[in-house]
Amino acid sequence: MSPTTPTTTTINPALPFPAAASATAPTSPALATPAAASPPTATPTPSILGLDALFTNPVFAGGIGLAGLGAAAAFGRRALISGGALLRRQLLVNIEISKRDPSYNWVLAWLAQPRDNTGVLAQRLTRLRNLSITTATKSLSPRGAAPEEAGAAKIHADFRVQPGFGKHIVRHAPGVYIAVNREKAGTATTATGEPHETLTLTLLWMHRHVLGDVFTQAHALAQSFQQGKTVVYTARKMEWAVLGKPRLKRPLGSVVLDEGVAEGLVGDVKEFLKAQQWYTDRGVPYRRGYLLYGPPGTGKTSFIQALAGELDYSVAMINLSEVGMTDDLLAQLLTQLPEKSILLLEDVDAALVNRRQRDPDGYSGRTVTASGLLNALDGLAAGEDRIAFLTTNHIDRLDPALIRPGRVDMMVRIGEATRYQAAQMWDRYYGDIDEDRSGRKRFLQRLDELGLFNGDGRDPNVPKRHTSTAAIQGLFQFNKGDMEGAIKTAEALIPRTFEPEEPPAEGTIKAPA
Ligand SMILES: Nc1ncnc2c1ncn2[C@@H]1O[C@H](COP(=O)(O)OP(=O)(O)OP(=O)(O)O)[C@@H](O)[C@H]1O
Ligand SMILES: [Mg+2]
Repeated sequence: MSPTTPTTTTINPALPFPAAASATAPTSPALATPAAASPPTATPTPSILGLDALFTNPVFAGGIGLAGLGAAAAFGRRALISGGALLRRQLLVNIEISKRDPSYNWVLAWLAQPRDNTGVLAQRLTRLRNLSITTATKSLSPRGAAPEEAGAAKIHADFRVQPGFGKHIVRHAPGVYIAVNREKAGTATTATGEPHETLTLTLLWMHRHVLGDVFTQAHALAQSFQQGKTVVYTARKMEWAVLGKPRLKRPLGSVVLDEGVAEGLVGDVKEFLKAQQWYTDRGVPYRRGYLLYGPPGTGKTSFIQALAGELDYSVAMINLSEVGMTDDLLAQLLTQLPEKSILLLEDVDAALVNRRQRDPDGYSGRTVTASGLLNALDGLAAGEDRIAFLTTNHIDRLDPALIRPGRVDMMVRIGEATRYQAAQMWDRYYGDIDEDRSGRKRFLQRLDELGLFNGDGRDPNVPKRHTSTAAIQGLFQFNKGDMEGAIKTAEALIPRTFEPEEPPAEGTIKAPA
């Protein structure tokens, strides 16, 4: 037995109060020797509830250690997160773009542009994994193809790849990266019923100046897509939406109005566009309204579209006879007109005859009222900086209040086809084959015989008739490249009339249908 064995026993588990026990130790001979023999510093303080034993347990101590490590890790993680957030706040800059903003689609298209991603880092970071695709198709029928060749028409598909939902990194310039996060914003939907989305761009604070370039480049890119095209917006629910794809600009010369009419209108609009300062200096709202009226198919809508192309403007179109168009909606749409656009209000007479009639089945139909239209045009809520074109086939039905200056500053009748217009249109269609203009002479003579220029009154046998430029266009398109055919079938230009139904004989009992 080792001599030290009994004397090193420092803890007597039988003693409930070790401190008191050591104080009384000299009185107990049995315990005096070992207590005196052991050095006082070597005696650890025994635990009250026997916890000391617990701590000496390697399993328990190990557990405590692990728990401590876990807590430290959790703390460290939280510190990292809040440190990261702080760092992000201090070092990064975020910009959120909502789908409602016009720049949303511009930036998406810009992000899809091919980039120079040379270098290992750039290649690894910028690999786009989630992509989405937008496809546009158009049929490419060969110009001047005969109808029987229509089968030969090809469909051209245009695929555009964009960053899909999720996170991406793009390299804007050497050493400048932009983190992109495209996400659906909850269950919210836009006014057009599509899911709402946001695009967040994140950059280093020191690269924040790059944002200006991003938006400028994205805007320029969007404009380049629309180069030579006219964008048409239409009201979809509560907001403006692009109607179809931007269409090729219609040349102003392709709409043949009577002598000097188009020139007068274009000159006035251009004058107005130059005079913004004049309006500002006098505190007058910078607005101008035009009313084009006349029978159907005389080129009113076509002229406005061509004018927009000429000015490099888009067209924001509202048809007042459309079901679902209300005063409130009209006012709202007019306050948020797309930039650089001509407001086109078609069929304005529809609003003025409307008396909020309801069908017996409760259907209310059109609900834009006369006062709703007047207020939208120049009430307090009416937007500034606007060119408005109003069209109607029934000038007689308009309220004089609508056509007072301020609402309508210029009224132009676009009427039935005149000799001048028929000659101009002939030149556009057959100018290349009718070199000596003899065909044109015969065509105009034929129209005279048919009395289509309202007769000249000299021959009582010649009826007084009119035709429309739309009808002349139809005739020439039917006789593509065949001027003799156009002269021969010119009778087709006589407006169609339908016999009125025979009134029922008096005394007839009408049975319900
Ligand atoms: N003056 C014109 N010059 C060239 N094309 C014309 C002219 N008038 C009509 N057209 C052709 O006829 C068609 C109908 O024209 P448009 O829709 O512009 O007529 P509109 O006056 O607006 O008729 P509506 O009053 O019924 O709305 C178009 O395809 C257009 O190209
Ligand atoms: Mg029209």
